[in-house]
Amino acid sequence: MKKSIPFLELASMHADLADELKSKFAEMLQKGIFSAGTEVEELERSLAGFLKMPHAIACANGTDALELALRALGIGDGDEVIVPAMTWVSTAEVVKMVGAELIFCDVDSDGLINIDQMERMITKRTKAVIPVHLYGKMVNMERLLAITRSKGVKVVEDAAQAFGAFQNGISAGAFGDIGCFSFYPTKNLGALGEAGLMLTADDTHSRKLRLLLTHGQPERDIHELIGRNSRIDTLQAGFLNVKLDYLLPWQQKRKQLAEVYLEHLQHLKGIIVPKGILKDDHNAHLFTIRLEERDKLKAFLADQGISTAIHYPMAVSATPAFNGYGDFPMANALARTTLSLPLHPYLGEKEVRRVCEAIHEFFR
Ligand SMILES: Cc1ncc(COP(=O)(O)O)c(C=O)c1O
Repeated sequence: MKKSIPFLELASMHADLADELKSKFAEMLQKGIFSAGTEVEELERSLAGFLKMPHAIACANGTDALELALRALGIGDGDEVIVPAMTWVSTAEVVKMVGAELIFCDVDSDGLINIDQMERMITKRTKAVIPVHLYGKMVNMERLLAITRSKGVKVVEDAAQAFGAFQNGISAGAFGDIGCFSFYPTKNLGALGEAGLMLTADDTHSRKLRLLLTHGQPERDIHELIGRNSRIDTLQAGFLNVKLDYLLPWQQKRKQLAEVYLEHLQHLKGIIVPKGILKDDHNAHLFTIRLEERDKLKAFLADQGISTAIHYPMAVSATPAFNGYGDFPMANALARTTLSLPLHPYLGEKEVRRVCEAIHEFFR
């Protein structure tokens, strides 16, 4: 029996970093600072530098980042917010959480917001759009911004899956009014728990985001506005400070493996490989192929010990929670046909070749 190939291997990644992570934990335990503090400051400084933005504001998770972004922009009751129908559910949830009206838009064949359709959907009440850089591939931000700016519509970028992607040298999350990231453990830069980030170039938005995530307090016991607790866990900030040093070699490895996948799969009739995955504006978060016989291939690979995943088996607009928000043919088609193959920095080229051979065998 051949060794199985899991979809992700978070344990082996952290086994490699175990000594550094343990000594970071020991250091934090000794310092006794478990909320805010220098680890959070260092993380925000490093991220602002890496992402080339004036303000990087760490928070509890990516979903909160999106919700706080909408709140900071003053979006709520009576405002319409356009969201792609194919995304992780958070993007849609936050619109409802702030009391705004959720307007779904279909996606293109890459799973990114259909910009032409988005333009047609903008009304007088449209206050914001949330483009999602799905699978780590960036939306054409120049094109999107040309439309939103001319119509006075705000942009909150959902860059949860796109940490490390840059379009014309500008980071994902740095184009919109506010950009949001997730450091959920499976992301290219993942915490050992939950964490998120908001990015903005605007001083006023930055101040408001900081107030919102800590009970509206500019200083202790002064509550300037109604906020809540969405501070990043200091332990997670410390772990992210360790892991950030490994991001670039991990990114290189992802691209190397994506190249091997492309070499073996791009000419195979019956599947569509991810477009532009080797370019800078794709961080190779997921290697998501499309094929009609998706469920059969998934089962065939599972029989050979190869785990795959589906991102996502339903368009958000087709889930019971969002029933009645319309029908989006491309989002539904993607939900039926996409399959994500194993891709992470601790996967070997040999294993990628084995996955490709199994896919070729399936088609034979
Ligand atoms: C596209 C997208 N948006 C938002 C989120 C929410 O991030 P978090 O899980 O950190 O709340 C995720 C995370 O999975 C995501 O993939």
